[in-house]
Amino acid sequence: MAQYPKYLLKALIEREQKGLLRKLNTKFPEIDFCSNDYLGFSRNGLITQKLKTNLFENKLFGSTGSRLISGNSQFIEDTEKQIALFHHAEAALFFNSGYDANIGLLSSVPQKTDLILYDELIHASLHDGIRLSHAKHFKFKHNSISSLKKLLALHQKNFENIFVVTESVFSMDGDTAPLQDLTEICQTDKNIFLIVDEAHAIGVFGNQGRGLCNALGVENKIFARVYTYGKAMGCHGAAIVGNGILKNYLINFSRSFIYTTAPPYHSVEAVLHAYQLLIETNEKDTLQNNIAYLSAKAGKIKNYNNSQSAISCFITGSNNAADRLEKELAQKNIYAKAIKSPTVKEGTERVRFCLHSYNTKQEIDLLVEILEGFKK
Ligand SMILES: Cc1ncc(COP(=O)(O)O)c(C=O)c1O
Repeated sequence: MAQYPKYLLKALIEREQKGLLRKLNTKFPEIDFCSNDYLGFSRNGLITQKLKTNLFENKLFGSTGSRLISGNSQFIEDTEKQIALFHHAEAALFFNSGYDANIGLLSSVPQKTDLILYDELIHASLHDGIRLSHAKHFKFKHNSISSLKKLLALHQKNFENIFVVTESVFSMDGDTAPLQDLTEICQTDKNIFLIVDEAHAIGVFGNQGRGLCNALGVENKIFARVYTYGKAMGCHGAAIVGNGILKNYLINFSRSFIYTTAPPYHSVEAVLHAYQLLIETNEKDTLQNNIAYLSAKAGKIKNYNNSQSAISCFITGSNNAADRLEKELAQKNIYAKAIKSPTVKEGTERVRFCLHSYNTKQEIDLLVEILEGFKK
C-alpha cells in the first residue's frame, strides 16, 4: 500500500467509535421515504423515453470543455432562456449541480466590503460558498425575522451591500422560510439583496411547481434564486436565476462555472424534459395529496415534525435512537435515513422522511403505525 498521512486512519477510527462512520450502500429497503425523487421523474421512465428519441443524433456525447472555451452551445443557451421564462426572470445560468451553483454564487458576488447574513440552518453548499467569500458573515436564528433585524440594526451602516441568504424549504426539517417578511426587510434599503435556494421547493410548491417564491408572489423581489435539478426534477444540475447583469457577472467571476467542463447535451435536454413534465403531468397534485394525508395522520404523534413540504421528520433526540428507528423501519421494508449530530444540532437527532407522488396510502399508513409505536 502507498504511504498515507496517519491522521486519515485515526479520523476514520474515531468516527467508527462514535457510531458516525459514513458508508456507501447499494441495497435499500423498497418503500422509499428517503430519495429526493419527489415527483417520480427519475423513475417513471418518461424522461428516458423522451431522451431516446433525440439522444446522440449528431450530438457530441461530452460537452468537450468549459462553457467559455468549447463547451457552449445554442441548445444550452436556448434552454437557459426557457428556464428564465418559466421562473419569470430575465436570465438563468446553468451549473453542474446545486453545490456548484451555491459555491459559485456566494464565493463570487459578496465582496470584502459586504456583509452576508444567513439563516443558521442553510445547506452545507451555501455555507461552503460563504466560507470561500471575502465578505464578513453572521448567522441569524432560524426563520427569525427579529434576529435578522437585530443584526441589520447593528451592522448595516458598516457595509456597502448586505446579502441575506436562506432556503425556501429547509432540507432537514422541511419547514419553509417567511419569504414575504424577508422580502419586505430586504426592500427597506436598496443595498440589501435576498438569495433564496429553492432546491426542495421546485416541483413541490407554486404554479406548475415553480417553487415557493412563485407561490408567495415574491419572485421579482429576489436578487438570486437557485433551482436544483437533482430532486423533484429527477435529473441533476442547477440554475441560478436573476437578472442579466447577475448572469453576466457569474459568467465572468464564478469559478465553479468557469473552471469546469460544461454539462453534456443529454443532461441539459433531460432538464428541459423535466420542466415539460411539470407542465404535462399532475404528479405535483398527487404529491400534495400525500403530504396532506401524512400530515393529517401523523400530525399529532409526539416528536413528529409536521410540515407542508415533502420533507418531515421524527425527532429522536439521540443518535442511538435515530439508528434504532432507522433499523425498525428497514425491518418493515421502509427506507428512511437517520440524521445524526453533528450534521444536526445535538438533541435534535432525527429520522427524516421524504414523501413522493408514488408513495401509496398503505405505505404512509405503515410508516405512521411504526412512528406511533416507537419508544425513544
Ligand atoms: C438546500 C440544498 N441546496 C443545494 C443542494 C445541493 O444540490 P445538488 O445536490 O444539486 O448539488 C442541496 C442538496 O442536498 C440542498 O438540499
